[in-house]
Amino acid sequence: PVLVIDFGAQYAQLIARRVREAGVYSEIVPHTITAAEVRAQQPVGMILSGGPSSVYADGAPGFDGEIFELGIPTLGICYGFQVMALALGGEVAHTGKREYGSTDASLGGDGGTLLAGQPAEQTVWMSHGDSVAEAPQGFQVLASTASTPVAAFANDERCLYGVQWHPEVKHSAFGQNVLENFLHTAAGIPSDWNSGNVIAEQVERIRAQVGDARVISALSGGVDSAVSTALVHEAIGDQLTAVFVDHGLLRQGEREQVEKDYVESTGVRLITVDAADTFIGHLEGVSDPEQKRKIIGREFIRTFEKVQRDLVDEARAIGGAPIKFLVQGTLYPDVVESGGGTGTANIKSHHNVGGLPDDLDFELIEPLRALFKDEVRAIGRELGIPDAIVGRQPFPGPGLGIRIIGEVTAERLDVLRRSDAIVRDELTAAGLDSEIWQCPVVLLADVRSVGVQGDGRTYGHPIVLRPVSSEDAMTADWTRVPYDVLARISNRITNEVHEVNRVVVDITSKPPGTIEWE
Ligand code: XMP
Repeated sequence: PVLVIDFGAQYAQLIARRVREAGVYSEIVPHTITAAEVRAQQPVGMILSGGPSSVYADGAPGFDGEIFELGIPTLGICYGFQVMALALGGEVAHTGKREYGSTDASLGGDGGTLLAGQPAEQTVWMSHGDSVAEAPQGFQVLASTASTPVAAFANDERCLYGVQWHPEVKHSAFGQNVLENFLHTAAGIPSDWNSGNVIAEQVERIRAQVGDARVISALSGGVDSAVSTALVHEAIGDQLTAVFVDHGLLRQGEREQVEKDYVESTGVRLITVDAADTFIGHLEGVSDPEQKRKIIGREFIRTFEKVQRDLVDEARAIGGAPIKFLVQGTLYPDVVESGGGTGTANIKSHHNVGGLPDDLDFELIEPLRALFKDEVRAIGRELGIPDAIVGRQPFPGPGLGIRIIGEVTAERLDVLRRSDAIVRDELTAAGLDSEIWQCPVVLLADVRSVGVQGDGRTYGHPIVLRPVSSEDAMTADWTRVPYDVLARISNRITNEVHEVNRVVVDITSKPPGTIEWE
């Protein structure tokens, strides 16, 4: 792989995705990785990410300088560029001149290998305080800006490169080209990472892992589990049984969609388990978000274990093989955000990662564990899953359970479900589905406000709309939904759902707000 060294910025995932868009497999590793560990992974290249702090700050994320001696083609970005400059004998200065946002950069000469074919003047995206004042010996300066004399450098002989700006963000006009020049031209890495290869590789791996055992798959109706299930089905056919748990936290019509559309398009054998009463029973009296997530995660697994026991009994009766494996649609961002990839902070326990109980009785098959959402969609399409399912907006495993702020009850679920159906209805009717990454609808069940309806005073609950635009759910901005669409939604909810007397729109980006409210 190409290793993306994470210096603690949100940028590492974006870099990893851009590298894959260039057809090269990438993995994120923490900046604490040692030279020996790097050598063991045999990377074909390395990219050092940006980071939040100055290289001189107390507790600034460090890096084993010996890694630069391993002869691995390396590109440093922003903080990583400065780490590189310092480690190799260059000079990094506190200039006091902060550059933030779109900045004009000028190429010194022809741009060398790294900036080959790019215009002499271009717009790049900057975010830094310190600057490289002098490039290390043997390095050639490729670009500069008004306040940064060394904005990019290169040492072709050692295949070491660096840019002060962020080539991974779309605001850098020739950013992707910088990455591709580094990967393909400088490091000579071919572009051969694509969905066809991923499927072939996974199918082989799954067959080897499973043998002739039987497998069950957790199907939620979302893209991730739909694709992971189809992928495992492709590998082992009828050794797989898909299990759909109706935990009572689903949206309107969701169960029917899974039972009909998905089964028709994939031919997967499906069992639906009715577990609403169990889940809602266990959630009684619980308002703490992490506790809800843990309970829902645990009950998921308990439910599967029960299905396993039932199926084992059934298999024994007919002399079949045991069920040893559980498929989960865990994605790479889940792994990274749960602290599994990089040692970054645990922000939320996603139910399919951090929420797993210790006494788990299955071996897991997680064929999407190394993939980003857009890659999963591409694989789904390649596997012939209809666009209506592959293109579906994300919906969290804990479902409406984490969209009721406060205790989850059957009545509150009903209020939220009816409100949510109106929102989805109107957003789809307005043609906004592709513009919006997802739009959680949240019920503030413990909040009441005074309203007036007809001649009467009401004392009802607010509904929050959380429409967001995002590329990967790691960062997001609130979507500017047209006022007339918002007006229609507000009007319909307050008229049709009498428990709700106020509709508000969440206008917070991520960060600082997460997409879900819990
Ligand atoms: P946050 O709220 O962390 O959400 O900004 C990021 C994305 O993840 C989804 N999400 C989940 N998905 N299990 C899931 O499968 C979970 O426990 C979970 N929590 C959040 C959320 O909908 C958004 O797309």
